[in-house]
Amino acid sequence: MTTAAYRDDANKIVILNPKGGCGKTTLATNLASYFALRGPPPTLIDTDPIGYTTRWLERRPPDRAEIIGISIDELAPRRGWPFNRPRESGAVIIDTPAALRQREIAELTHDADCILIPILPSAFDVQATAQFIARLLQLTDFERPVAVVANRTRQNTRSLAVLLQILHGFETPTIAVLRDSQNYVHAAERGLGIYELPYHRVKHDIEAMEPIVDWLDQLLVKTLQPGLMSRFNPLPKMLSSSST
Ligand SMILES: Nc1ncnc2c1ncn2[C@@H]1O[C@H](COP(=O)(O)OP(=O)(O)OP(=O)(O)O)[C@@H](O)[C@H]1O
Ligand SMILES: [Mg+2]
Repeated sequence: MTTAAYRDDANKIVILNPKGGCGKTTLATNLASYFALRGPPPTLIDTDPIGYTTRWLERRPPDRAEIIGISIDELAPRRGWPFNRPRESGAVIIDTPAALRQREIAELTHDADCILIPILPSAFDVQATAQFIARLLQLTDFERPVAVVANRTRQNTRSLAVLLQILHGFETPTIAVLRDSQNYVHAAERGLGIYELPYHRVKHDIEAMEPIVDWLDQLLVKTLQPGLMSRFNPLPKMLSSSST
């Protein structure tokens, strides 16, 4: 078991982009599913009053790998970090709402270890996200690693090529390109992540997520104490537990 190694004071992943519908909840729930399969159980925090992440967790079959869910109602009394969570819990993934104000962005990112920004390949989304990233980086004392994830892309299209060219000019790296795939939709309907669907169906999508997991692992390894490094096992148990 790598449980103790993963119980680290840091490792809070904030999924952020005030632009609505860009894939924050999809990314948050799929990362939670990934970390749950790899163990120890991650904590998934829903800071969105609309509560799609909380609904996803409610749909999650009880026999699936454990995810510790915290809804916005539960979060309010524990405002701020650190809050109590089981000693043996792993990564903390925070899903955030759309249309955030600068003060809310500052609050949500205040104690984050890293920030992932999903972006859709439309001119409007790209412009809005570019402005958001500029505001994010302006926040005083802002030094957290920030990365962009292109989401719902169409492979081998001119629009994807143009998007990647624009993203290349951003101050923050683009670490992954996820395609538009019904696998995310079908998994979400059942309270699952793509990692929990049959592998032959999701192989491409899992491969596309890999750079995100690698990026997170590199940050995590930096925060682990040297004595715990030898117990760090980045290999997930996911494929053995994939079923229907
Ligand atoms: N890669 C993808 N392929 C197909 N559908 C996707 C993908 N990513 C997200 N979606 C779908 O797009 C819709 C919006 O995604 P999601 O809810 O994750 O965005 P969001 O940023 O959390 O939205 P909001 O700002 O409203 O919270 C959902 O119906 C989701 O299933
Ligand atoms: Mg959402």
